[in-house]
Amino acid sequence: MTELIKLNKVSKIFGPFNAVNKVSFEINKGDAIALLGPNGSGKTTIVKMIAGLIKPTYGEVLISNKKGKLQDIGKKSTNLIKVGFLIDIPSFYKSVSAYQILRFLGRAQLVPKKELDSRIEDLLRLFRLYKWRDEKVQYFSKGMKQKLGIISAMLIDPDILILDEPQTGIDPKARVEVRKIIANFNKEKGKTILICSHMIHELSQICEKIAFINRGELIAYDTIENLQRKLKINELTCQILDPISSGVDDLLKKITKELEPYLDYNIDPPIQYFYDTQQLRIYFDGKRKAKAEMLDILTTKFKSNFRLISYSQERSNLLEQLYTETIV
Ligand SMILES: Nc1ncnc2c1ncn2[C@@H]1O[C@H](COP(=O)(O)OP(=O)(O)OP(=O)(O)O)[C@@H](O)[C@H]1O
Ligand SMILES: [Mg+2]
Repeated sequence: MTELIKLNKVSKIFGPFNAVNKVSFEINKGDAIALLGPNGSGKTTIVKMIAGLIKPTYGEVLISNKKGKLQDIGKKSTNLIKVGFLIDIPSFYKSVSAYQILRFLGRAQLVPKKELDSRIEDLLRLFRLYKWRDEKVQYFSKGMKQKLGIISAMLIDPDILILDEPQTGIDPKARVEVRKIIANFNKEKGKTILICSHMIHELSQICEKIAFINRGELIAYDTIENLQRKLKINELTCQILDPISSGVDDLLKKITKELEPYLDYNIDPPIQYFYDTQQLRIYFDGKRKAKAEMLDILTTKFKSNFRLISYSQERSNLLEQLYTETIV
């Protein structure tokens, strides 16, 4: 594992307020990390310290150089890996065009001159902003400005891309596109990403690892799968064709009896029926074989009671659950 960034007991105190408290975690090459937490939990403050915009009160932020050696971000150093940032809502000089801004930012960040124009063009096309290339930014919508913010973070072709609430102001359709672009940057180009958000669904589509932050403290940091295992949440959601209107309690008892060896009794009751969505939720031991056997039983022994349309172990549901179980 190559560590690109490492936070070592980092705290930030604003006056009497401890906004970030002894946070330690590392970002390895290729990671796709979600920094997830409610409003005011300290996400932006952490990112600002990684960007060197503010200094930690205690602790250190280390960043790798190109040879893989970690260096303190507060100390003068050269040859560091490239980090692209989008922090908060970007503000640009209003009276210049998108192209002029990107060109200025590219030059300021020492993007090789001969590559700059083609990189700007590629990114503007990727984000569907190319036709507004020469338009003044003051006429850009909120979502377009946000896209421009993400483009400026990607302009240096960063080794690690850090985006604070990248979906702000972007409509649902464009969100799907932006999400795909960010996911590809990680999955296809092998780049490292860290995304801050409180939007669980967005994050679950892109990230593999989660750093849960609450009231300035890191309360969990692991892959989604490991967190799932640790919190013992293995849930199978079965979508049923017709609503079960009567005898639900008896039916649930029968199903519980049949599925007994596979169920997770830490959750009470381990099988629940949701009238509004016509779903059966089954908490089980998480084993693949158990899942197969439970589905067999449900589709054969209970054929006369209900018919299954689909089943899933939705990641976004899972995350939501992790979130509510972890964050208090
Ligand atoms: N410069 C500052 N001076 C004083 N307090 C600050 C400062 N910056 C942040 N804070 C406080 O630190 C806490 C964490 O803020 P931060 O912006 O990091 O949260 P966040 O997790 O990014 O929230 P959001 O989801 O709303 O963006 C908040 O209570 C905020 O008021
Ligand atoms: Mg924030």
